[in-house]
Amino acid sequence: MDRIRTVRKAVIPVAGNGTRFLPATKAVPKEMLTIVDRPVVQYAVDEARQAGIEHIVFVTSRNKQAIEDHFDDTPELISSLSRSGKNAQISELESMLPKAGSVSFTRQQAPLGLGHAVWCARDLIGDEPFALLLPDMLSFGARGCMAGLMDLYREVGGNVVAVEQCAPEDASKYGIVGKGGTVRHGFAVTEMVEKPAAGEAPSNYYLNGRYILQPEIFSILAHQQRGAGNEIQLTDGMLKLSANQPFHAHPYEGRTFDCGSKQGFIEANVAFALNRADIGDMVFESVREIVLSHESRIRAA
Ligand code: G1P
Repeated sequence: MDRIRTVRKAVIPVAGNGTRFLPATKAVPKEMLTIVDRPVVQYAVDEARQAGIEHIVFVTSRNKQAIEDHFDDTPELISSLSRSGKNAQISELESMLPKAGSVSFTRQQAPLGLGHAVWCARDLIGDEPFALLLPDMLSFGARGCMAGLMDLYREVGGNVVAVEQCAPEDASKYGIVGKGGTVRHGFAVTEMVEKPAAGEAPSNYYLNGRYILQPEIFSILAHQQRGAGNEIQLTDGMLKLSANQPFHAHPYEGRTFDCGSKQGFIEANVAFALNRADIGDMVFESVREIVLSHESRIRAA
């Protein structure tokens, strides 16, 4: 077997225009909406770093400058915080600041689909395996999803994807994989289909937005025809690559919130807030109170 090459770089696509969150996303990129007190995209970056990623390539688009600013230094803010003795905030900002030169940005010039967004990162990734994290899909668990996916990758090499199980009626919203033989950290993928029609999904294991892919995907994506939703689909490219290279899936043991939907975004805010040492107890009490009084209003109506 070929040597399993280390994964050093991650791609984070942030080019989507967030129409589902208008008017909030008129002037603010959807990836900058906050879960508790940090932008959605920060969680994906933290998860990638915890999994050992050294360099992040953001695929952006017009009107996304706030994301670049978020990952830059803020000397004026730091000096003003320092004048007011806000040292805890200074250390938090400093610990989040990426090392100089460890982030890159490239633009997807037109919204042609996820497969096209990933292809836009080809020159910045070069000829090495890379991680891919879709930031709308927020991992919530004892461990980030990418760290578990790395375990599977170190076991089997090739291409690996993270999956979770969905209700059968939700399968048509996602990319779905077929389940083959098991390995220690997952199972072999037998097929992949993007947004299958009702009754045509090979299983209820859906792609939850975490991948480790070999660079050969780029030459396939360069010629990929449009698929579901008239977009260039990554799943279709992966299916082609699977004719020549192995694909395995890692079932994530935590839970993913789809922050691209309003419901998922609110659920993520509640779950992350409840989990916070500083505000968790308070939030628990207030959420309980809001739910109880809502319930009694419904009953009285
Ligand atoms: C994309 C992928 C899909 C995956 C999903 C997870 O779809 O194409 O395979 O299951 O992300 O969110 P999108 O959400 O862009 O329609």
